[in-house]
Amino acid sequence: MNNSAPRTVLRGQVLSFTDDPFIVDNSKAYQHFSEGIVILRDGLIEAVGSAADLSKQITDADQVHDHGDNLIMAGFVDTHVHYPQIGIIGSYGTQLIEWLNTYTFPEEGRFDDAEYAREAANTFVDQCLINGISTASVFCTVHEQSVDALFEATDNIGMRMLAGKVLMDRNAPDFLTDTPQTAYDQSKALIERWHEHNRCLYAITPRFAPTSTHEQLEIVTTLMREHPTAWMQTHTSENKGEIAWVAELFPDCPDYIGVYEKYDMLGSRSVLGHAIHLSEREWAVLSESNTAVSHCPTSNLFIGSGFFDFTRPQRMETPVRFGLGTDVGGGSSFSMFQTMKTAYEVAQVHGNNLDAFQAFYMATLGGARSLGLDGQIGNLKAGLEADLVVIDLQSTPLIRHRMQRVETLQEVLFAQMTLADDRAIAATYINGVCHKR
Ligand code: GUN
Ligand code: ZN
Repeated sequence: MNNSAPRTVLRGQVLSFTDDPFIVDNSKAYQHFSEGIVILRDGLIEAVGSAADLSKQITDADQVHDHGDNLIMAGFVDTHVHYPQIGIIGSYGTQLIEWLNTYTFPEEGRFDDAEYAREAANTFVDQCLINGISTASVFCTVHEQSVDALFEATDNIGMRMLAGKVLMDRNAPDFLTDTPQTAYDQSKALIERWHEHNRCLYAITPRFAPTSTHEQLEIVTTLMREHPTAWMQTHTSENKGEIAWVAELFPDCPDYIGVYEKYDMLGSRSVLGHAIHLSEREWAVLSESNTAVSHCPTSNLFIGSGFFDFTRPQRMETPVRFGLGTDVGGGSSFSMFQTMKTAYEVAQVHGNNLDAFQAFYMATLGGARSLGLDGQIGNLKAGLEADLVVIDLQSTPLIRHRMQRVETLQEVLFAQMTLADDRAIAATYINGVCHKR
């Protein structure tokens, strides 16, 4: 940290996590200051504490942002999203494969036009800021320029962002397929251009097993071995028809996860979207390989895929890390409040209760952990990167009315995740810089 850089002092209610509320008792998992202060300097968090403790440190040289009674917490982390699908969010009906063929693939085809990609990337970044999302793990399209467009937009404001070029060499329209060789050449060039450039991180991105040949999956293995600090993201076990298709296409593999296991694609930097219908064996493989999964509840309901059981990854002896994903455009909302609410509703179907601390943890530190980035983002703690969200707890007349009846912080947070949307995001800080609505 540059100690001569100017400081920004944020005042408001402050919430951070001290532990995992899925493991320890809620009351021991968080710290809340009703009058709190967060001090930012040079893109990092310098201090977090009560106003009583930290006020005396403030000097005339500091810039003070007084957020009143608003709640300041770590920026939201979206562990699975498709920026090129922003134009087809909310497309009617059907299930995964038909939805891909009818809406997704034609739209993704438009990203061979770099200008179209740039416009969509800017709209995507705006939606992240409007919704308090400071980091996301993003699928681009098969086109190299779709990745450049996204990283140019996120790098421009210093967002910590993961993204990669989608790899597909079969079972997709010709205008969206590459080959094992172009998959290799373009991914390698993009990794060299963007991986660890400022806050950009590259994720090698085979779409899912059905759209890659054996030869292309071998290329994924090679890319992962040659770039061990890069991430790998893909989809798994989202839809029953898809699972049957994978069994047909890969008869030598025991199951869906077995395909990714065969090509050595699992590990601590691998994040698999959905993971709804996995067997005991598949969960065991994810646990042993320290692979993370992304729970995408609005998408799973919207395209009728099924109900993820959030207790499942935790029942493993070594729990499987998991975070929340909006999965736009299969997902129907950029709002992490709506995503948390739907995660709660999906849990209800399994007879489980997802409480508000657990939901907000999933949307922040849990997501960061599943991306292996909790040393950088996902919480308010000295030394972490200065990505924050400021939540207006009175953002609509209904919420204002509801807030008159709440008695505990848990109730405040639960009402927000049930009732709030982007109107509640008063500001999003990226790399220490305030982006106000
Ligand atoms: N499986 C393969 N591609 C996709 C996609 O774009 N969205 C979703 N939800 N699932 C997928
Ligand atoms: Zn997806």
